Formats: sequence, structure tokens, C-alpha cells
Amino acid sequence: MHFSNPTIASLAITLPVVAALPKGSSSASLQDAITAVPGESPLFVNYPGKKTPLASQYLKALPATGSGPAGEDDLLFQNLLAAEWSIYSFYQAGVEAFTSSNFTSLGWPNTTYERIVQMRDNEAGHVRIFQEQISNNSVKPGPCKYEYDFNNNPEIWLVLQTYLEVSSMAFLTGLSNQADLNVSKSALMAIGQVESRHNTWSLIDVWNTSPFAGPSDTVYPYANQVLDLTNNFIVSGSCPSENPPYPSPSQNLPQLLFYGNQTTAKPGSDLHLTYMDPKNVPTYEDDKEYFAVFYHGLQKESVKFNPKTSHVKIPAQFDLNTGIIMVNIADEKDAPTEDSVVAGPLILLEQPAKLTTLISTA
Ligand SMILES: *[C@@H]1O[C@H](CO)[C@@H](O)[C@H](O)[C@H]1NC(C)=O
Ligand SMILES: *[C@@H]1O[C@H](CO)[C@@H](O)[C@H](O)[C@H]1NC(C)=O
Ligand SMILES: *[C@@H]1O[C@H](CO)[C@@H](O)[C@H](O)[C@H]1NC(C)=O
Ligand SMILES: *[C@@H]1O[C@H](CO)[C@@H](O)[C@H](O)[C@H]1NC(C)=O
Ligand SMILES: *[C@@H]1O[C@H](CO)[C@@H](O)[C@H](O)[C@H]1NC(C)=O
Repeated sequence: MHFSNPTIASLAITLPVVAALPKGSSSASLQDAITAVPGESPLFVNYPGKKTPLASQYLKALPATGSGPAGEDDLLFQNLLAAEWSIYSFYQAGVEAFTSSNFTSLGWPNTTYERIVQMRDNEAGHVRIFQEQISNNSVKPGPCKYEYDFNNNPEIWLVLQTYLEVSSMAFLTGLSNQADLNVSKSALMAIGQVESRHNTWSLIDVWNTSPFAGPSDTVYPYANQVLDLTNNFIVSGSCPSENPPYPSPSQNLPQLLFYGNQTTAKPGSDLHLTYMDPKNVPTYEDDKEYFAVFYHGLQKESVKFNPKTSHVKIPAQFDLNTGIIMVNIADEKDAPTEDSVVAGPLILLEQPAKLTTLISTA
């Protein structure tokens, strides 16, 4: 993840200064952590502690206890649980790194830390939900070590929070295409709603902007390509040996960045793309046509892509300052199959407008 820190620092100056607040009343007790059920326990709602609400027996990979056939959606929920560990761990790291005054002293509302703790509780609930969705015939992946590079900086943490919640919405909508069971599709939608509420909170309370993303959030069809982006946060070699490969299957596509100093990254503006890892770049064939495929809401727009210049124009007809725009490079117009994608996707955060060029830039 790349940031232009001076711009982040300048954000705080314009925010109103609000008084600090001591907070916390909840009957949630860690003694209940082993038997706590999401939907029936305050541990996953409003438990205020710095310590994780997850019992230690759930904080690791859980090997299969049966040898029968895998459940129909086991693979989907293994991928989702592995992704969830990175999101939950981000929140737990924020809960541990900060206090309420770290946010109020920079002008954010006196409920900011309390909300972060509650979102951590929700994400811990997601961990338990996904563990339970995986049958006993499949391993339940455990947490790796993660590096978020927020350097104890509350502002950078809040920028990342917005980006991660938007990203989780993007892979949850895509994952619902993979679900075999109707009940899994409904579960994914219900979880996606919660991630959107987390994002709505930050858009209103933190960034003081409209929370709306227009009539539809952005659907990206190839969810595992989005999950692959979360691998950037994993400390190499730190995952439990029992964990299955993540994501599975993975294309290990070259990831995209853009030069944030040359663009607004808004519809109609030019995007100069580059690759995150110089050792993982596409092999472009001279006689082949390539496209940058842009996704916004339920719309998809293909623009010819010249690998020699790597400049593309974001379709001007997309809504301004709403939700996200995603883009990949494909060797077929509209990227009709997963295999037609040769690089990406890149997630362009369009909202809040002031963060657009801060995230995922080179
Ligand atoms: C928290 O902030 C709100 C206004 O944003 C204020 O009304 C309230 O008194 C504050 N609470 C404390 C305990 O400072
Ligand atoms: C956060 O606040 C605590 C006091 O509550 C202080 O010791 C610490 O230095 C602050 N951290 C940052 C990053 O401002
Ligand atoms: C799976 O294993 C757990 C722990 O051993 C057990 O409580 C649960 O009943 C098992 N579930 C099924 C469907 O067998
Ligand atoms: C899912 O719902 C559809 C529509 O109601 C139904 O036709 C289908 O049989 C259901 N599938 C499963 C696996 O229950
Ligand atoms: C933008 O940043 C790139 C990489 O740091 C640099 O090479 C380029 O000169 C910059 N362009 C402008 C217009 O500042």
C-alpha cells in the first residue's frame, strides 16, 4: 500500500475539534468467549475491551476432524475466512494501537475509537461465522501475521479502514457468484451489508461526506483476483502450515498501481498505470489487442490499452465521486472470462473525493 503522507496530514487541519469522551458500558465478558454465538452475544456487538473477544482456541488453524466429502461451499468460506483474518487483524491492531484521545486530539468525533472497537467486535463475529460455515471435513484457516504500515498514525489507519471496507464489499459481491447453496448467498449478502455500514460510518463521521455510492455499488466478477490483493498485507511465510493456499484458486496476476501525482483518478481523467512488482508483469504480445476494462456500479466499459504507453482515460460517463471504480487489463474486450484478465484489478476509491489519489498510487 502506498500513500502520499503529506496530503493525509493536511486532512486533519480542516476537521472540527471535538471534546474527548470516556465511554463504556457493556455486560460482555470474555468468560463467555468460548461459547459465544454471533447474533446472541454482546462480544460481537459492543464489547469494549482492548483484548480480542475471540477465545484462544479460535485464534488458530483448526484441522479437519472428519474425512468425508467437503461441504459444498467449504472452499468459498475457506477463502473468505482467510480474507477475514486480515480484516479482523487490522481492526484488532487499531484497537491495540490507539486510545480515544488519539482521535479526538486530531479533531475526530469522540465516538471514533468506540466505533472502531465495535467494528472489531463485528469482524471477530465474522471469523466465528465463517469458521462455523466450513464443514468439519475441511481445515479452517488460521491467522497469519499482517503488516499494514500505518505506523501508529490514526489518520493513515482511518484511510486504510475506508479502503479495506470498500474492498471487502467488492469481493463479497463477487464471491456470491461462486456460492452453491442459496443460504451461503444470503449469508454473503448479510455480511456485505455490515461492511457497507462500517464504510458508511467512516464516510459520515470521519470524512464528513455523503455516504451514498449512487444506485449500486460496484460489482467485480472475479472475486479471487480481489482476494489476491489482500496478500499484500501478509508477512511472507507467516501463515499457519495447516492453511490451504490462499486464495484458491489464485492466478497470481500482476498487480496495478497508478501515478497519483499526474491525475485526479476521476471519470474523464488520464491514468498512467504501472505494476506493483517489477518481477511480476504481463507478457504482452505485439500483434494482440489489449483493453483496460473499467467497472462502476453494474456498468462495464472497455478502453483500448497500449502496453507501450500504459496511459488510459477513465470513462467520462461514470458518476463523479461515488463509490469505487475498478479496472483490469484484459486481452479481450470486456474481460469475458477470468483467464482473459492479464493484470489487476486496481481499486480506485472515488469517495471521499479527497482520498482518491492517496490510495494505491505509485
Ligand atoms: C461528544 O461530542 C458531542 C458532539 O459532537 C457532544 O455533544 C458530547 O457532549 C461529547 N461527549 C463528551 C463526553 O465529551
Ligand atoms: C495516543 O494516545 C496516548 C495517550 O492516550 C499517547 O500516549 C500516544 O502517544 C498517542 N499515540 C499517538 C500515535 O498519537
Ligand atoms: C464439528 O466439530 C465440532 C467440534 O468437534 C462439533 O461441535 C460439531 O458438532 C461438529 N459438526 C458437525 C456438523 O459434525
Ligand atoms: C436455490 O433457490 C432456487 C430458487 O428458489 C431453487 O430453484 C434452487 O433449488 C435452490 N438451490 C438449492 C441448492 O437449494
Ligand atoms: C510523478 O511521480 C513519478 C514517480 O515518482 C515521477 O517520476 C514523475 O516525475 C512525477 N510527475 C510529476 C508530474 O510530478
